Amino acid sequence: MPNKSFFIKTFGCQMNERDSEIMAQLLGERGYVETGDSDQADLIILNTCSIRAKAEQKVMSLLGVLRKQKKRNPGLKICVAGCVAQREGKQIIERMPHVDLVIGTQSIYQLTDLLDNLEDRPVVTMLSDDYQIPPFIPDLTAGPEQKQHSAVPFKKFLTIMQGCNNYCSYCVVPFTRGREISRKVSHILDEAHSLVEAGVKEITLLGQNVNSYGKTNVVSDDTDDYSFADLLRAVSVIPGLQRLRFTTSNPKDLSDDLMRCFAEVEILCPQFHLPVQSGSNRILSLMNRKYSRELYLEKVAALRAYRPEIALTTDMIVGFPGETDHDFEETMSLLEEVQYHGSFSFKYSDRPGTRSSEFTDKVDEALKSDRLRIFQARQDAISLQHNERYVGRTFPVMIEKVAQGSIVGRTKTNHLVHIANTFNNFLPGEIVSVRIIHAGQHSLRGELLDQDQQ
Ligand code: 5AD
Ligand code: SF4
Repeated sequence: MPNKSFFIKTFGCQMNERDSEIMAQLLGERGYVETGDSDQADLIILNTCSIRAKAEQKVMSLLGVLRKQKKRNPGLKICVAGCVAQREGKQIIERMPHVDLVIGTQSIYQLTDLLDNLEDRPVVTMLSDDYQIPPFIPDLTAGPEQKQHSAVPFKKFLTIMQGCNNYCSYCVVPFTRGREISRKVSHILDEAHSLVEAGVKEITLLGQNVNSYGKTNVVSDDTDDYSFADLLRAVSVIPGLQRLRFTTSNPKDLSDDLMRCFAEVEILCPQFHLPVQSGSNRILSLMNRKYSRELYLEKVAALRAYRPEIALTTDMIVGFPGETDHDFEETMSLLEEVQYHGSFSFKYSDRPGTRSSEFTDKVDEALKSDRLRIFQARQDAISLQHNERYVGRTFPVMIEKVAQGSIVGRTKTNHLVHIANTFNNFLPGEIVSVRIIHAGQHSLRGELLDQDQQ
């Protein structure tokens, strides 16, 4: 009998991307083969996001399309994983009876066992406060036929913790990912070593709130004295690792010790995503963010003192309930003050179960759209100004993709660079010297220096 094939569609954040890789590996170990064509698959997994209403609607409409595919191919199995699965549980099967399995965020490691028992339409969405993320060593030996999720990579995500205890008033994550759970230091280091031994050059440490690594709900014996900064230092000395990044951080927990790592840990890339969400103290307080604009700006100044070339990015929400014109002006003035290299900005979206969904003074949709447009236009102009400062300078660029006639890489600051003047057969992960010759809002163009100029 030929091997069964699977297709995974991932929505949302890097945490979901990493979870999809884990599910792909587990399926591979059970003899499934990954396909890039969902029409050919025996099993389709939607790994879902519920951060904003739109993300959830996308999943629901795709499930509608899959209903027809299942009619054509009744043997097809459909699994919903991730944050929508966690939040909606058995309601998904009630609304979408063609779904075979609903699997919550803490249950992905049970995937293959659950697939063996599909007759009873399993719905597994228990969240537990003492959940332990199991040790997991990535298998990077799979051949090229094991497409997307298991091709030998040069950069990888490594999950160090999961969940969130912050309860920002707008956010669904504490309900979809549960309480903060830190992985054991030894498990993380074993995984990091195995990645580097397999040829990985760049690791991004992942967690919803990495700054509180080891502080809460520590379910292991050896994380007790390890702060996130300690963990970062321990990973950074793995021989062969060339670039280290991490995400995401809450400004309130950003310690001086961690900020100092930007000055002291050479392979830590000068790039930092520090979500602020609003420039207004009144809105920050309604958001339950537990820091002020002033404290945030102090952290920004400290980061720039430790690593002057650091590229800062942020997340911003516009149109939070009760946001006045004045509050929005405060957001715009924060953007002017910080001059972010880039940002992700969103219109506030009501999420069921969150505190802010019960606030009464909601902002009109059209006004939210206007504010988003104004914010994004100004951010684009600032990003372009930053990028223009790179023109004429030379940077080490790590090659990411080599396709016909085009080579793309990234600087340490995480800027995308299109390399114009070479057809060399570079391998992803190689680092080359590139002089920047043109700046756009969202990417740079550069030319490779001759070997003797490097
Ligand atoms: N509405 C809009 N944006 C949100 N985010 C989180 N929850 C919401 C919401 N209810 C944004 C925040 C967060 C990013 C991942 O998504 O900016 O940092
Ligand atoms: Fe979306 Fe948050 Fe879940 Fe990531 S953790 S998939 S961003 S809801």
